[in-house]
Amino acid sequence: MRRKIVAGNWKMYGSRSMASDLAGAIAANMPAEIDIAVFPPLPYIAGLRAQLFGSGLQFGAQDLSEREGQGAFTGDVSAAMLVDVGANYVLVGHSERRKYHGESNECVARKFAAARAAGLTPILCVGETRQQRDSGETEAIIGQQLDAVLKLNGIASFDTALIGYEPVWAIGSGETATPQQAQDVHAFIRSKLEKEDISIARRTRLLYGGSVTTSNVAKLLAQADIDGGLVGGAALTAIDFLEICAAAQ
Ligand code: G3P
Repeated sequence: MRRKIVAGNWKMYGSRSMASDLAGAIAANMPAEIDIAVFPPLPYIAGLRAQLFGSGLQFGAQDLSEREGQGAFTGDVSAAMLVDVGANYVLVGHSERRKYHGESNECVARKFAAARAAGLTPILCVGETRQQRDSGETEAIIGQQLDAVLKLNGIASFDTALIGYEPVWAIGSGETATPQQAQDVHAFIRSKLEKEDISIARRTRLLYGGSVTTSNVAKLLAQADIDGGLVGGAALTAIDFLEICAAAQ
């Protein structure tokens, strides 16, 4: 039985006081039966962790450097630094990083490796564009995104990693994948992992992201291979995020 998880990706929204109020309200009212993590903008993680230490709310970062160790890499933040400030998770390969920062599948695979080497749990984000879906390339694209990570890291690395399926066309668009569309891709992802190792494939948690709301979350999470939600816009309001968490129990 895979434990459900709801992750709130705050992207580049908020302020220190907004972050404190939002995370505080979530920590005070969240259900204990599932894993709940928030991914605030980087400068806020340490303060929130100090504020809410012991609450059970987990923290993640939205990105990390692909470089391990330390060095003269201005602007980069290492996995070890994220662990140092209390992060448990890190998103790798979010489509906004792929699009605006030109992150290739190979770069994402290196970030995944750097995260694991420091003890962070990566959430590997994969997904197809509208054009790729319309031309029947969804599985080929997601297969390539997974293969690059598997090639560098091996299937055993998924014992401490999660995968987020985020169709690019559903992100922030209000157009959610139907539960069946999402389930089909999740089943494809699990079948790819199964070819490498059945028991790891069955343990790996797969999250759906892309316009998850209070009204569609229950049907999405009722699908056999959907183990959680990766929530953007609806994660910025405590009441909505908590309702999504409650529906995921
Ligand atoms: O990482 C979560 C995100 O990309 C989904 O965003 O606003 O469509 O829920 P949103």
